[in-house]
Amino acid sequence: MIELDAGTPGDVEHAASLLRQGHIIAIPTETVYGLAADAGNPAAIKKVFEAKQRPIGHPLIVHLSDPERIHQWVDRVPDFVWPLIEEYWPGPLTILLPKKYGVSDFITGGQPGVALRMPAHPVALETLRLLGGDIVAPSANPYGRISPTSASHVLRGMAGRIRAVLDGGNCSVGIESTILDLTGEVPSIARPGVIGRSELERFLGMSFPDHAPAKRAVPGNVKHHYQPVTPTIGVPPERFPEALPELTGNTGRTGVIWWQSPPPESAVTESIRLGDNPEDYARMLYTAMHAMDQADLARIIIELPPKTEPWLAIHDRLGRACTQSSGAD
Ligand code: TXA
Ligand code: MG
Repeated sequence: MIELDAGTPGDVEHAASLLRQGHIIAIPTETVYGLAADAGNPAAIKKVFEAKQRPIGHPLIVHLSDPERIHQWVDRVPDFVWPLIEEYWPGPLTILLPKKYGVSDFITGGQPGVALRMPAHPVALETLRLLGGDIVAPSANPYGRISPTSASHVLRGMAGRIRAVLDGGNCSVGIESTILDLTGEVPSIARPGVIGRSELERFLGMSFPDHAPAKRAVPGNVKHHYQPVTPTIGVPPERFPEALPELTGNTGRTGVIWWQSPPPESAVTESIRLGDNPEDYARMLYTAMHAMDQADLARIIIELPPKTEPWLAIHDRLGRACTQSSGAD
């Protein structure tokens, strides 16, 4: 297992050459670290599934260095999609479009669409450029666990299972990209992210269905995901101060992740404060969860954010991370 540093001359070239040789490596993106394989190499893609212990059939996002590379994957890009790409690429927006004939089912999990994104992290873009092709990259964590937002998180989950990790610092977004599904009659959000639904609706001048009509259940979009090993309890902010003593009153060490109401020091073993706006909360969330999960605790208690639209993507992740909720509506 090689530890590469994007700041060291030659290391990004080294990463690209490992990909070219069919190895799998973790690379930074602005959202989370991805477990990269050459998208044109089926044997390398197979290693991604093995390393993550991810069931075959869970589709992978293809990462591009240039919007024009979309033509490798899609026959016809609808006209309304180009302004979207111009506005949001490179960036944390994945688009799902009907795939071109011949695109491997191994990548799409047999789905009719292919998921594409151009990452905004300069190191990811440089790696792609040096490779001269596209890469598939799921989040670089063991299946079902918390996504990594630093090279040390990657090492924690994947050491020994991948060829290298390319360290490009902490991810600036902190949660996975928004997935906009453009394979149906109307667009829909397949996974919420920091680029919100109403922003995309406004941009496209149309409204999306609340629940996409009779949507296929896509493997990979599963309820239990992003989970710490430690039992994790989510508490709505209005109940948090009164519920805390009750929840920590039992035996064992307690970790608290909060953003609004500081927990009394005597009641908790570890506490981490997140930002009080969605961007800062998202950027810090997985880092806090990884830290808590390593602190040998009996439980992690998380002060949930408000139930309003700007916090939707965070609620989505926390809903999957929490093994229990306390008084959540
Ligand atoms: O921010 C991100 O998107 C990160 C970074 C590394 O780019 N990647 C990521 O990949 O989150 P992953 O594999 O952990 O999540 C991909 C999600 C899954 O929920 C999968 O089901 C969905 O995208 N997906 C991928 N390809 C699809 C397809 N062809 N059809 C439907 N859903 C797809
Ligand atoms: Mg993932």
